[in-house]
Amino acid sequence: MDNSTTRDIPDIQALELEGKRVFIRVDFNVPLDKKTGAVTDDTRIRAALPTIEHAKKRGAKVILASHLGRPDGKVDPRYSLVPVGARLAELSGLEVLVPDDCIGEGPKNLVQGLRDNQVVLLENLRFHPEEEANDDGFARQLAALCDLYVNDAFGAAHRAHASVEALPRLLRQRAAESGASVPTVAAGFLMKREVDTLSSLLGEPERPFIAVIGGAKVSDKIGVVEALLGRCDALLIGGAMAYTFLSAKGIALGKSRIEADKVALARRALTKAETRRVPLHLPSDHLVVEEVKDDASTQVCGNEGFPEAGIAVDIGPATADYYEALVRGAKTVFWNGPMGIFEMAPFAQGTERVARALAACEGTTVVGGGDSIAALQKLGLAGEVTHASTGGGASLELVEGQSLPGVEALRGAVGASN
Ligand code: 3PG
Repeated sequence: MDNSTTRDIPDIQALELEGKRVFIRVDFNVPLDKKTGAVTDDTRIRAALPTIEHAKKRGAKVILASHLGRPDGKVDPRYSLVPVGARLAELSGLEVLVPDDCIGEGPKNLVQGLRDNQVVLLENLRFHPEEEANDDGFARQLAALCDLYVNDAFGAAHRAHASVEALPRLLRQRAAESGASVPTVAAGFLMKREVDTLSSLLGEPERPFIAVIGGAKVSDKIGVVEALLGRCDALLIGGAMAYTFLSAKGIALGKSRIEADKVALARRALTKAETRRVPLHLPSDHLVVEEVKDDASTQVCGNEGFPEAGIAVDIGPATADYYEALVRGAKTVFWNGPMGIFEMAPFAQGTERVARALAACEGTTVVGGGDSIAALQKLGLAGEVTHASTGGGASLELVEGQSLPGVEALRGAVGASN
């Protein structure tokens, strides 16, 4: 069995949708404006539209379900999906009905009475602690709402939660007991594209295959760094995690942010790179300030003679030139994580150079992680890469070679084409 593609998972096109109640797990965990509550980035909502539209066109009664934020198993109006429903209505032209709970008679009656131009968006699944506990009883209550299940929530596929794991498992059991010969659970279009594209990096990617990994914390990225060392032709490191790696090489970078307790981990990855003869590139120069603020005066410093009070906030121009050339010449690129504090315009250069290089690269370019996607979007380049993943943690775990509970719960279902 191939553990990393959707080959043995039915997709939504294999389902007999006409007249059926279909539960579509989406990842509508989107950022909201703290003051107005409005959705500030609707990428994940847009990404689920093809699956929703397909189900509607085929005559299904559509029930959408998602988590939003981390409300800790309690009802918290700040995490209500009502504003998300409003945005979905604008984008889809559908009337979106949001009951005040995700289980029970309320949603059941709404689903029963659904008209052609309507969908139900259940209230936040995480208002119930049983969702994150992957509770079978809770999944049974969700199952009572539907006949069929589609998972299009790639961003949540690494969570073994009730709507992601227990629910499809229950529906598959229910189908097996009734001797069903057609599938009752399937992947949505987004889920399929995400899993197939990201897992193609684990197969035989065209070479050279370059990985660019940035971000603040070594601990968040060490798994993917080590996994990629076995697969890519060069690994380029940026962001604050680079300073921990440089520290592991005995290079002092003034007051730059270093995770002292992660230096050993970084050293282990450096040794692994050496053993495997994979070039692991660290920045050779940096943009440096004495205080992290918008109007700070900046200087460029190399790794030698770094000022004692200096704080590195971005890769320097020589590093950006070098990374850019490697990315542009690659046949496959995977990028996750910014090169510096890109949310502050004066420190965004390195991240922007990498983003532009990916957009200019003629090979396959795959981007994961909210910050990298945000950088692409800011530059209007999100459409210029082969695949911009809607999953942060999920895309990292998949590229690390881990199996995702939300994908495994669909695998081997009746109707899968092997
Ligand atoms: C995400 O935004 O990465 C997913 O929606 C998962 O959210 P979580 O990290 O709160 O489980």
